[in-house]
Amino acid sequence: PSSIRKICCIGAGYVGGPTMAMIAKQCPHIEVHVVDINAARIAQWNSDELPVYEPGLLEVVSECRGRNLHFSTEVDSAIAEAEMIFISVNTPTKHFGVGAGRAANLEFIEKCARKIAEVARGHKIVVEKSTLPVRTAQAIKTILAGVSTGATFDVLSNPEFLAEGTAIEDLLMPDRVLIGGESQSAIDALVEVYANWVPPERLLTTNLWSSELSKLTANAFLAQRVSSINSISALCEATEADVDEVAAAIGMDSRIGPKFLKASVGFGGSCFQKDILNLVYLCEYFRLPEVAEYWEQVVKMNDYQKSRFVSRIVRTLFNTVSDKKIAIWGFAFKKDTNDTRESAAIYVCRDLLRERAKLSIYDPRVSPEHIRRELTDAMRNGDAELNATSAKLLAENVEIVSDIHVASSDAHAVALLTEWDEFREADFQRIHDGMKKPAFLFDGRNLLKDMSLSDYGFDYHGIGFSS
Ligand code: NAD
Ligand code: UDX
Repeated sequence: PSSIRKICCIGAGYVGGPTMAMIAKQCPHIEVHVVDINAARIAQWNSDELPVYEPGLLEVVSECRGRNLHFSTEVDSAIAEAEMIFISVNTPTKHFGVGAGRAANLEFIEKCARKIAEVARGHKIVVEKSTLPVRTAQAIKTILAGVSTGATFDVLSNPEFLAEGTAIEDLLMPDRVLIGGESQSAIDALVEVYANWVPPERLLTTNLWSSELSKLTANAFLAQRVSSINSISALCEATEADVDEVAAAIGMDSRIGPKFLKASVGFGGSCFQKDILNLVYLCEYFRLPEVAEYWEQVVKMNDYQKSRFVSRIVRTLFNTVSDKKIAIWGFAFKKDTNDTRESAAIYVCRDLLRERAKLSIYDPRVSPEHIRRELTDAMRNGDAELNATSAKLLAENVEIVSDIHVASSDAHAVALLTEWDEFREADFQRIHDGMKKPAFLFDGRNLLKDMSLSDYGFDYHGIGFSS
């Protein structure tokens, strides 16, 4: 294949930034240019305060930035110069018009395709990095085929499987890299890029549509495991079984495997819910209502898990949390990330606020402004304006503090929502002594389950076992 020397990536987000940084690190002979229309985000990529928190990311970016890794807003020239163009823009759930609440909003993808059609000359390989509904490549090909400049294109699908918080290890040693396409020379060119560090047996090539659909399917299967174990957690609480013991027992079956069986307050993140809803929408579109209903249940079970957690808090606190201070430990959707998209914490906090609780929130990586923005959006509930009650609750019943001890002082309960390692290092005696009694601790991650918190006097509740 013709060796690639210049790559451009449109979209400097959680995927575009780390993925391109890894390519730049492993392929010093390739110039990698990451572009975005968001100038503030680009400025952060060019600073030491990267817009994405990932362990090890700053080291990789620092090594390559200015050498063969560049971040800018120069979208047109970056496209014009590159031989290979990755599209890594956001594909959020559509919240208006046909398919609202389910379908993926492909507006940003289409804009990228039209931009490439406008400025590209010669031959370009266009790579779908974003997660897309199966058959999106057809639309991209059609848009690109309409150019009058004589430019020619190959379209590949190369979905990203990295998980946040472990992006660098996942990129360094991926279980597999999936490349779907029609043109063998284009496939070979992208295989050659990854072959700089990924062993050949992990480079999997398929047709375009299998590749697009495999990404949605992988996320649906992973989320389904979490919803499955969470459904069993509810049964465990009713029967004196312990969900962690059940998970260990079934996980030893090599056909089931031990991973992704951790019961929790519910899965979050920008991908699982969005991608399953997208799958559901596709099934309905292709007139497969039974298949759609099957997968939709994974999201419904997750909603149930989040609301069940709040109900348990309210019920345990003598059926009222009104005017009671509740400490919220963690707001990110999982540890080691500053991402809060679809975090279970948003919904738990919103529902506790609606019960008129007073929240004192601490997260080691998420900024106070960001937490406020998420809660404001959640309280808006899809409406343009906040109603007066919600505005008052947000103003008077939410404080964001800089450590768990302040959050917990005088609190009636702690709700642990993100499994940050530092929570295990807390001074539990001091926290207990500073709280109202009985001092309740609701552990949405079973993070402190083995720490004998009742010895300090806590009334400890976790997920999937009876206390
Ligand atoms: P993100 O919102 O963090 O980043 C997307 C970026 O694209 C934004 O900075 C935005 O400004 C930019 N953008 C949008 N339209 C643009 C345009 N026309 N020109 C230039 N820039 C534009 O999103 P993300 O989390 O990086 O996700 C990107 C895609 O990758 C999504 O399809 C997502 O489903 C998929 N994905 C995400 C993850 C993850 O863990 N976040 C993992 C695998 C796959
Ligand atoms: C996911 C996929 O794992 C990744 O392959 C894909 O590219 C993007 O979506 P991510 O959302 O970053 O990655 O994190 P992940 O580790 O999958 O966790 C998702 C959510 O599920 C988190 O809220 C996590 O806390 C929760 N989870 C995960 C559980 O509750 N229990 C588990 O056993 C595993």
